[in-house]
Amino acid sequence: MPDTAMPAEMRVRPLTDSDFGAEILAVDLAQPLSTAQVDAVRAAFDRHRLLLFRNQHLTRDAHIAFSRHFGELEHHVLSQYLDPKYPELYVISNIGPDGKPRGEHPDKGTLWWHTDTSFTRTPSLATLLRGIEIAADGGQTWFADMQGAWDALPAATKARIADLRVVHDLAASRLRSGDLPATEEQRRRAPPIAHPLVRTHPVTGRKGFYMGLHADHVVGMPYDEGRALLDELLAFATQDRFVYKHTWSADELVMWDNRATLHRATSYDTGRERRVVERTVVRGEVPV
Ligand SMILES: [Fe+2]
Repeated sequence: MPDTAMPAEMRVRPLTDSDFGAEILAVDLAQPLSTAQVDAVRAAFDRHRLLLFRNQHLTRDAHIAFSRHFGELEHHVLSQYLDPKYPELYVISNIGPDGKPRGEHPDKGTLWWHTDTSFTRTPSLATLLRGIEIAADGGQTWFADMQGAWDALPAATKARIADLRVVHDLAASRLRSGDLPATEEQRRRAPPIAHPLVRTHPVTGRKGFYMGLHADHVVGMPYDEGRALLDELLAFATQDRFVYKHTWSADELVMWDNRATLHRATSYDTGRERRVVERTVVRGEVPV
């Protein structure tokens, strides 16, 4: 069914059987958007939490310009991924200085369910990821609907966990994911931080889980007990019925709401395949 907020030429096509995920058709993000178009994309974003735009031929500048419609852009704390000319872009590439696949995954943390920069005090609102070179096999991105998962939880369980707080910790999560340890500077810029386990979307008022890889332990609970609870909730919330699995094509842009979703990449043959994607991240607020 068409979204009533859409300008006549724009169309929305669902990506799943629920309201989670939608493709936006008939919009060219390389062109300046009208106020009505921007409002329509924002409304669709709040409603569906995950948007897909196909066949977009974007320069880096256009990617950044579109992203700015949703807020101020972050510069990531993991500065090894930044191009000095475009500090808003975080490049995820397996191509080495010789122009060939390096045989090593560029960011192992992305293989785990997570929400971007949840280890900061004001985690990112949205991420806009653009496919540039796409692996023929693997290298998908999966998205899980944290609002749908919360809604599906039994009322008694909701009541038991609704007010819990969880400490997110980059140093701990990078060790857990087998990635390079966080540097001293990164630890200083992103010390452990507590967020609500269940956050309320500031626009729609819907509740959803807020957890994933960087969620380390539950405040006021023995470490192992908290980890067991987080693992159990993550397994529940990432069941196939809450997940959309995206197979990439070049020239696609996917944007997701980090306040209401988790995502993860899937592996690919990093020694044979080429995969280059770039993202911008919109700054968010303190989760409540
Ligand atoms: Fe991510």
